[in-house]
Formats: sequence, structure tokens, C-alpha cells
Amino acid sequence: MMSHRANQAEFVARPPKDTARCLTEAFDAGYRHIDSAASYRNEGACGEAIRGASSIPRSQIFFTSKVPPRKMGYEGTMAQVDDTLAKSGLEYIDLMLLHSPYGGSTRRKGSWKALVEAVEAGKVRSIGVSNYGVHHLDELDRHIAELEQERGGKGRGGVLSVGQWEIHPWCPRRDIVEWCSKRGVAVEAYSPLVQGKRWGEPVTKKLADKYGKSEAQILIRWSLEKELVPLPKSATSERIRENADVYDFELIPQEVQELETDEYSPVCWDPTTASLDE
Ligand SMILES: NC(=O)c1ccc[n+]([C@@H]2O[C@H](COP(=O)([O-])OP(=O)(O)OC[C@H]3O[C@@H](n4cnc5c(N)ncnc54)[C@H](OP(=O)(O)O)[C@@H]3O)[C@@H](O)[C@H]2O)c1
Repeated sequence: MMSHRANQAEFVARPPKDTARCLTEAFDAGYRHIDSAASYRNEGACGEAIRGASSIPRSQIFFTSKVPPRKMGYEGTMAQVDDTLAKSGLEYIDLMLLHSPYGGSTRRKGSWKALVEAVEAGKVRSIGVSNYGVHHLDELDRHIAELEQERGGKGRGGVLSVGQWEIHPWCPRRDIVEWCSKRGVAVEAYSPLVQGKRWGEPVTKKLADKYGKSEAQILIRWSLEKELVPLPKSATSERIRENADVYDFELIPQEVQELETDEYSPVCWDPTTASLDE
């Protein structure tokens, strides 16, 4: 049985073939949070594994999916929610994110409205955004206020519960994290292992030696100390277990600070810098 804190370590599924094996191994290792997306084309395999994990009640599993850029806008997002439910075979989606801000202001507002309605219809439990810059987040605040007016008052504009961004010591995104923490928005950190591109950095290595842990475990722990929700991905059995084995040590505040750099070096795509018109 995993601890409450172990809930914060995420398992991230991988495209079709391997998904079932990875999920089974991840469930065995105590993971309960699956980060999927329509674009990953693994919603079906994820849903199948979730439904097949008969010893784990559905209520203990947290399934996330994401609306792809091509489905931005009210109609497209409504259709995507139904498609995700159909493909996964699940009765509800725990968290639906807008995968990126691309599409322009009108489409972003339409997508958000569709997510709000999906929550009201019981199809989705929580909603949020991914890869939004602070300017997109400020715009979303305005859209929520407008929707409250249009839809009959406080709360009818929806609640931004979660945001997901590439965050690690070489891309700490302090502005976005601060924006979210002021509003109580949970922040998920994708590519928390920097996609394996930073192994051997002196500070990470030093701390790995000090704690007798791997560099991956140090980076996951950095996320946890920052109160982020890390989303490490692995398709390797040993690493799936290793990445969940991070609850028997803690980094002290000076070490968390020492790891963090002033670099802005994302390794994935970076829609946060897109203009409001894109
Ligand atoms: N919202 C978005 O736009 C967005 C964008 C990117 C990613 N994400 C989410 O975040 C997840 C993770 O991001 P990511 O895959 O880009 O990067 P990541 O988790 O930082 O890195 C994954 C890479 O690290 C390797 N790895 C994992 N554990 C390791 C360990 N203990 N030791 C050594 N190497 C290890 C993996 O190899 P093996 O698999 O071969 O073990 C893989 O090559 C994705 O799967 C996705 O769900 C979201």
C-alpha cells in the first residue's frame, strides 16, 4: 500500500505497445497517477489498464488527459472530452488539461467553457491548463470572470485547479509557480528528469553520493521539496521502481537552492512564450 506522499510521484504512460506492461509495473510499485493525453494516443491502453487493475478501486487512481491544440475551441473540446471517455472506457476523467495555449483568445475561452460544462456534467472532476505563460494565465482569469457574468454568477466560470509545465532546476519557471501558488493552483512538473540530458551535473552528483540515491531520485526529490507534482516517465522496469523510491530521504532547503539554477533551458516544446494571438 503506498503512502499518501507516494501519491505525488507520477507514472506517465508511453505510446501504445508498452503501455499495459508499464502501467501494471507502475501500479505494483505504488503509482496511482497516470498522465496521458489525446496526442500520446494511449488513452485507450491507459483506460484498459485502469479498468483491468481489479485490486485497485477506481477512486484511488488519478487519470489525466489533455485536449490537443487542434481541438481548441468550444466544439472541439466538447468532442475531445467525449472521445477521451469513449477511448478510455472510463466513467469520468480526474483531470482534463488544455495541452497548450495555441489557438488564440476566442478558442481558449471556448475550450475553457467546454471544460467547465464537462465538470458540471460529471464527465470531468478537475480542470486546468498546460504550457500557459503568465500572460495566458492572466487572460484565463479574465475569461473566468467573463464566464461568471455570462453564466449566472460566482463559481460558474470554473476553477483552475492544476497547471502543468516543464520544470526542473534548469527551468524553474519562478514567475509561473508564484502565480499559481498565490491562487492555490497545484503545479505539475513535466520532464522532471530533464529527459536524461543533465546527468553528471556536479551538484546533482554530489547529492546523489551524499544520500546514496540516483541522480534521477535527487531531481524527483527536488520537485517534491518545491511542492511540485513531478511526472517522471520511464518504460524501464527498474527505473519505474527507482523513481517511486524517493520517500526515505529529504533534501534540506540549502540543497534545494543549490540545485536550482538561473538558467532558462527547456528541453521540450515551449508554448509559454507564444503571443496571445497564436
Ligand atoms: N504537458 C506537456 O506538454 C508535456 C510535455 C512533455 C512531457 N509531458 C509529460 O511528462 C512526462 C515526462 O516527461 P519526459 O518524458 O519529457 O521527460 P523525463 O521524465 O524528464 O525523462 C524521461 C527520460 O528519462 C529516462 N529515465 C527515467 N527514469 C530514469 C532513471 N531513473 N535513470 C535514468 N534515466 C531515466 C527515460 O528513459 P526510459 O523510459 O528508457 O527508462 C526517458 O528517456 C511525459 O511522459 C508526459 O506525460 C507533458
